[in-house]
Amino acid sequence: MSRQARIIDGKAIAADLRATIKTATEKMARKHDIQPGLAVVLVGEDPASQVYVRNKGRQCAEAGMKSFTHRLPAETGEEQILELVENLNRAPAVDGILVQLPLPGHIDANRIIDAIDPDKDVDGLHVINAGRLISGREGLRPCTPVGCVMLARHALGDLQGLNAVIVGRSNLVGKPLAQLLLNENCTVTIAHSRTRHLNQVCHGADLLIAAVGVPELIKGSWVRPGACVIDVGINRVDAGGGKMRLIGDVEFDTAVKTAGFITPVPGGVGPMTIACLLLNTLRAACTHHDIALASYIDLTRI
Ligand code: GUN
Repeated sequence: MSRQARIIDGKAIAADLRATIKTATEKMARKHDIQPGLAVVLVGEDPASQVYVRNKGRQCAEAGMKSFTHRLPAETGEEQILELVENLNRAPAVDGILVQLPLPGHIDANRIIDAIDPDKDVDGLHVINAGRLISGREGLRPCTPVGCVMLARHALGDLQGLNAVIVGRSNLVGKPLAQLLLNENCTVTIAHSRTRHLNQVCHGADLLIAAVGVPELIKGSWVRPGACVIDVGINRVDAGGGKMRLIGDVEFDTAVKTAGFITPVPGGVGPMTIACLLLNTLRAACTHHDIALASYIDLTRI
């Protein structure tokens, strides 16, 4: 029997979340005369990063937030970036700080991230926020993993008791996502590109999340019938005729025949990441001004 998975429309779900955030931001402006502000630091001219940064600025404005973009030349020294981060830490109008990754090779990214005030670290990458997450305390969570959990909950509802397999172990996605899914009471496996019998490990998943950065590594035959597949991969491949095409870490055309639910690339996880960044900026503004986020947003919905 030929089946077809339901497509998880990340674009629509993210638009809905952004609308909720916008309503909360407007209410905050009316009630407290506060406008959340996000500072984005871009070092160098990486084309993909430039697109992301432009989108972040635009979506901030659309959500009623201020955005401050700092573009620095690729040869900027570490000390200069640290000085900028220190200034942003002290700036009253800045609630969130994001340093776009990857940074040029001569910069120690960890040193920069750890200079950010943890309560302004809207990427959730500071070692303090990683520690808060793992020890079950309040803190800012990384945006992409939060977006993945939202999409999975949208498709499946309660995630309790599910076998979740994450392929990928990065600090940005795989590792924090494992903790978030544990918090949802999933049984979590972290696999990666060196995992033996990766196909069999994937086949055990009710919820399969691919964040390994290898184009179409995961085949449809590895997907358990009816499973929910979330594809974090964004790989640019040559589409011929001088054009580039975006593909995920999952072979969509075969997986869509086996999975119960699947995210497309593009239009799945990507839009959720920026929406969750806006949510973190709102969250950071609430912390900064000692306001309860729950009075602006129904947190049980997200
Ligand atoms: N580059 C690609 N994804 C991200 C992200 O989520 N945060 C930052 N800071 N840089 C990125």
